Amino acid sequence: MTLPILSPSEVQKQLLQRQYAAQGTYLAMYSSWLGGIVKDPGLMMVPVDDHLVHRGDGVFEAIKVVDGQVFLMQEHLERLEASAGQIGLSLPHSLPEMKDIILETTKVSGARFAVLRLYISRGPGYFSTNPYDSISSQMYLIVTSFTPFTDEKYLKGVKVGRSQVAPKDPWLARIKTCNYLPNVMMKKESVDRKIDFTIGIDGQGFITEGSTENIVLIDKEKNLLRPKLRQILKGTTMMRTFDLAEGLLGEGLLNSIQEKDLTEQDILSASEAMMIGTTLDVLPVVEYEGQQIGAGQQGPAAFRLLQLLREDMKKGPKTTPVMY
Ligand SMILES: Cc1ncc(COP(=O)(O)O)c(C=O)c1O
Repeated sequence: MTLPILSPSEVQKQLLQRQYAAQGTYLAMYSSWLGGIVKDPGLMMVPVDDHLVHRGDGVFEAIKVVDGQVFLMQEHLERLEASAGQIGLSLPHSLPEMKDIILETTKVSGARFAVLRLYISRGPGYFSTNPYDSISSQMYLIVTSFTPFTDEKYLKGVKVGRSQVAPKDPWLARIKTCNYLPNVMMKKESVDRKIDFTIGIDGQGFITEGSTENIVLIDKEKNLLRPKLRQILKGTTMMRTFDLAEGLLGEGLLNSIQEKDLTEQDILSASEAMMIGTTLDVLPVVEYEGQQIGAGQQGPAAFRLLQLLREDMKKGPKTTPVMY
């Protein structure tokens, strides 16, 4: 076999010719490595010797843009900074610079509804595990178009099961690293089982979280409960939803808001359960391991929490408008 040795112009031609459906959702990419924004999906690339590629050495965030406004940008950037700090990774840009890059790249994409995926990588330099081999950390930001779940999905709810994937160590679970193989396997098992999500159980028998979402419950006494932040990611959506839930204490829908170690039995006896995350908002859980939860459809608290969160995305204090 004789393989062609490609010239730079042939490489560019090949890259632009390669086309597949998913690329239709890739609208713009900022790369600190390239020092600018790319709009051709075929040219949205990361150097192969970036430790993000060969070691999963990096941290990331997924941020939502709703009707031309970035939601929870500060919260996501603070979590990114904390994740990077945990693995001794310096940020290539300051938080205010990253905000400017986010707003500018989203503007260039033209998208009013989007998911922004922001990666901070250890950067290029050799193929070792040694983080000091990298020349400097990099930032990659990809703007993708976003199609939300249907209204029907929110009314009918989702099916959840128990994950067989070993839980992450607490320190790793609390960092949003690009080292997401356990999360990948959780998604795979839910797709293979034809259910919507699986959730983890820690060594003490307490529930953790889904592949990329948190789970919260409402017990029969109307207490809104989230798992302790020991072995899970501190979801920005969950935290914001819990802040907003304070407003429901006077409505009779909730009696208290608590953080608590929760078990599978707590899910089964809950009056409502919900998966919460950036791309989901507040999605009711109607079945756990084949057993019905609550009324088997969206409950009144899940409805109100979704409503509050969506109002917050439209006109709350945690939104940043993109100046198109
Ligand atoms: C493991 C994990 N848990 C929970 C979440 C939910 O977090 P957020 O609400 O910030 O999207 C995510 C998604 O980012 C995640 O990856």
